[in-house]
Amino acid sequence: MIEITNTAEQLTAKLADTHDLTDEELKLLIESDNSDELLFSLADKQRRKVYGEDVYLRGLIEFTNCCKNDCFYCGIRRSNHNTDRYRLTDEQILECCKTGHRLGYRTFVLQGGEDAYFTDEKLCTLISRIRSEFPECTITLSIGEKSRESYERYFKAGARRYLLRHETADDAHYRKLHPETMSLDNRKRCLYDLKDIGYQVGTGFMVGSPYQTTENIISDLRFMQALDPDMIGIGPFIKHKDTPFSDCESGTLSGTLRLIGIIRLMFPHALIPATTALGSISPTGREQGLKAGANVIMPNLSPTEVRELYLLYENKICTGENAELCKGCLERRISGAGYRISYASGDVIRKGAR
Ligand code: 5AD
Ligand code: FES
Repeated sequence: MIEITNTAEQLTAKLADTHDLTDEELKLLIESDNSDELLFSLADKQRRKVYGEDVYLRGLIEFTNCCKNDCFYCGIRRSNHNTDRYRLTDEQILECCKTGHRLGYRTFVLQGGEDAYFTDEKLCTLISRIRSEFPECTITLSIGEKSRESYERYFKAGARRYLLRHETADDAHYRKLHPETMSLDNRKRCLYDLKDIGYQVGTGFMVGSPYQTTENIISDLRFMQALDPDMIGIGPFIKHKDTPFSDCESGTLSGTLRLIGIIRLMFPHALIPATTALGSISPTGREQGLKAGANVIMPNLSPTEVRELYLLYENKICTGENAELCKGCLERRISGAGYRISYASGDVIRKGAR
């Protein structure tokens, strides 16, 4: 038992008990480094209560770095002319799935920029092919904002999960991170459509993104309480030299870990990844993320030749490794941190289900 000696620790204990705090209390906790030890231990206790020591792996296939959007933080934004663009063929994508399947992965995440080349028809053909070749695997999409009709078509073709971070739930902040062509309203519309259609939905935001305030983060937490997503992905913002935010400070390891802990206590059943961005700002970032309450890791299955080209931010890890190397590396890291890889497809466990 850790002794409670300060206000932040009192709030942490209350959060663990009630899974909620007032805005004022959240602000104090987010801004205090006085309670991290207690926070991480209670968050770990909570994750073990629902998910045991299991860590789910999602094989990530970054299949196109072409994007029509121009988000100010993102290295593959349309206006970055310093990057070579690529698209994987269906055969290459299926090959990645095959490798992933051989390594034991039962979920594939197809992630890419918003690339008009991949029409709904092409995507549905691809999804159906993956479905029929790997029937026991779950297909996750992470391909941005689309119409409800498109989301319905992908679902019919066999996609079951969708990752779309809301990025920030504050309108003014959203406009500081995105060009005028994009809107928070549409982003939210997408997330609610996806839920309504029946997808398991993941959302999230960057920690320490330019102009972010503690109040913005509280809005993010409130938005997610209303949406009730299955997965919550947060990682530090990391600058990229070919973006308008090239001179901005990156988010911190400690700030991200604290939010993982807070999110685990607020959303006891959520799937929370220890993200690649977290591993990129610290050599042990992902292990520390797991110990702070995360329970998912998304290793890269993309062909090694294209990994350097899917650079959303600088110093991204795993760009020189292949899928086998990442798997071995992760096995060591996960067991070293005191957890165990689960090879199940890893659906969210809803309240009362266990
Ligand atoms: N630093 C950290 N994360 C980033 N993302 C995009 N650009 C960056 C960056 N510079 C995140 C966004 C996006 C996800 C795929 O990657 O939150 O939703
Ligand atoms: Fe890719 Fe460690 S996970 S090298």
